[in-house]
Amino acid sequence: MTIRITPSILNADFADLTGELARIPSADLVHVDVMDNHFVPNLTLGLPVVERIVAASALPVDAHLMIEDPDRWAPGYAEAGCASVTFHAEASVAPIRLAREIRAAGARAAVAVRPTTDITPYLDLLDELDMLLVMTVEPGFGGQRYLGAMAAKIAAARAAIDASGRDVWLQVDGGISRETIALAARAGADTFVAGSAVYGSPDPDAEVTALRELAAA
Ligand code: DX5
Ligand code: ZN
Repeated sequence: MTIRITPSILNADFADLTGELARIPSADLVHVDVMDNHFVPNLTLGLPVVERIVAASALPVDAHLMIEDPDRWAPGYAEAGCASVTFHAEASVAPIRLAREIRAAGARAAVAVRPTTDITPYLDLLDELDMLLVMTVEPGFGGQRYLGAMAAKIAAARAAIDASGRDVWLQVDGGISRETIALAARAGADTFVAGSAVYGSPDPDAEVTALRELAAA
């Protein structure tokens, strides 16, 4: 299985994003958390800043939209050049239409589920999706504790993806560290967001490599 490490810049220095992006050359994509203070009680950045990150980053950009009304806003992130655009199941009114619009704009389309949201309805829609994101914390903040109870949800998604034969990535986000990444990998995840573990490290790129090795072990 191909392992992907997608560091989140949520805990990076927002005043020096160009410098921070250059610190993770070994990463597969860079994960950008868009929060609107409504879907989650935190506010980060929006489309104009993401456009600049796409231009400044040597890595493809993985946009995680923790926003209300993604049906209106998510296609713009695909048009801005993000490699993948993830919207939340709880916020989208028409997830199939939205996934098609994201793909039509040239990005991989992904659905995220909060810890208490059932992923089962989306496992029948793998033809429409390029990635599933199982949140392993309540979205909104970095530095929270990994929810081991998500293992069954990750495993159910893995089984459905394998049965589909499709190249759908299975991402986990929240509390991923050297201590927890193997748990998520064993449950079936192949794509790992790590925020505080990477940017809290004095050597973020070495942390990416260490996480990759632990996930593959
Ligand atoms: C939280 C965000 C995450 C966050 C993860 O809602 O979606 O991407 O940056 O941070 P850590 O890895 O510190 O849990
Ligand atoms: Zn995220």
